[in-house]
Amino acid sequence: MEEDSNKINEIELEDLPSVGPAIAEKLRDAGFATIEAVAVASPSELSTAAEIGESTASKIISAARNMANVGSFESGEAILERRRKVGKIKTGSEDLDRLLGGGVETQSITELYGEFGSGKTQICHQLSVNVQQPVEMGGLNGAVVVIDTENTFRPERIIQMAEARGLDSNEILKNIYVAQAYNSNHQMLLVDNAKELANKLKKDGREVKLMVVDSLMAHFRSEYVGRGTLADRQQKLNRHLHDLMRFGDLFNAAIVVTNQVQAKPDTFFGDPTRPVGGHIVAHTATFRIYLRKSKGELRVARLIDSPHLPESEAVFKVTEGGIVDK
Ligand SMILES: Nc1ncnc2c1ncn2[C@@H]1O[C@H](COP(=O)(O)OP(=O)(O)OP(=O)(O)O)[C@@H](O)[C@H]1O
Ligand SMILES: [Mg+2]
Repeated sequence: MEEDSNKINEIELEDLPSVGPAIAEKLRDAGFATIEAVAVASPSELSTAAEIGESTASKIISAARNMANVGSFESGEAILERRRKVGKIKTGSEDLDRLLGGGVETQSITELYGEFGSGKTQICHQLSVNVQQPVEMGGLNGAVVVIDTENTFRPERIIQMAEARGLDSNEILKNIYVAQAYNSNHQMLLVDNAKELANKLKKDGREVKLMVVDSLMAHFRSEYVGRGTLADRQQKLNRHLHDLMRFGDLFNAAIVVTNQVQAKPDTFFGDPTRPVGGHIVAHTATFRIYLRKSKGELRVARLIDSPHLPESEAVFKVTEGGIVDK
C-alpha cells in the first residue's frame, strides 16, 4: 500500500489529460494539490476551481481515478493487521493516558478542543517531545511535523519540557519540523509537503510518528464567514481531514489537531460551548477531548463520543516542565 502511494506522489497534476501548467496552478490554489484530491472531487467543484467546462472536468476526474488508488477495498484481515501496528504516545499524565485508552493513538485523528489557555497547545508541545522517546519510555521513536496556523509553536517551551525529562533539547528540536500555514489552502498544501518530507525522512531511517495541526479551524473559520460559503468550507475541510487521516494511515502516525470552541447561546443546560467545524470534524476525529481550565495549573479533560471507550474525565496539570499528573 505504501509503495502505491509513493508512486502516486510522483505523478504530477500536469500528467492528467487537458491539464497544463495554468490549470494545474488553479487547481493547486483551490486546494486540489494531488491526483487523489482530484479523483474524489465532483465535476462541478473542479470546473469552478479550474475555470473549465464540466465535461472536461469529468474527463480529468476519471483519468485521476484511474491513476490514483481510491475506492479500493481492503480485507478485514488486512485491516486487522494494520490495527495491530497502532502505537500510542504517552501524554505525561497517566490519568490522561487512561482516558485515551493508553495514550494518543497512531492511525487516528485526536482532536483537542477547549477555550483559550485550556492546554491544547501545551499538550501538542509535550507530545512532540514524548513521541521521540523509545517505546518503553512512552514514545514511538519518531519525528514530528507541526502545521502551525497561529504562530504559537515555541521552541523555548520544547526546551523546558525536554530538560524536565533530562533529555538533550537540541536533539529533540532537530526532530520537530514546523511550518507556518498562511491560509487554509496553504494549510492543505502543507499536508502534501509533509508527505514528501516523511518519505524522505523514512529513507534516512527516521519515521514521522506525529503530525500536529494547531489550530485546525482558525483559517477556515476566518476565511469562510457567512452562511453562503459554509458548504464550500465544509467540503474543503472534509478533504483536508481525509488527507490528514491518510497521512496517519500511510505512516502509522498520530494526527493531533486543536480546535476552538464557539459559544452556543441557545444552550441553557450543560456546557454552553462546542467545537467549531460541525459534523465533518465530529465524524472524522476518532478521539475528541474537551479541555477546560480548573484551579491554577489544573486542567480537566473529557473524552467525548468515543466509539469504543467510556465517556469519562481526567485531571492533569500544566507546569513549567510540561504535562504531569495532578
Ligand atoms: N512555561 C510555562 N510554565 C507553566 N505553565 C505554562 C507555561 N507556558 C504555558 N503554560 C500554561 O499553559 C497555558 C496556555 O495553554 P495553551 O497555550 O495550551 O492554551 P490553548 O488551549 O492552546 O489556548 P488557545 O486557544 O489560546 O490556543 C497558560 O495559561 C499556562 O497556564
Ligand atoms: Mg493554542
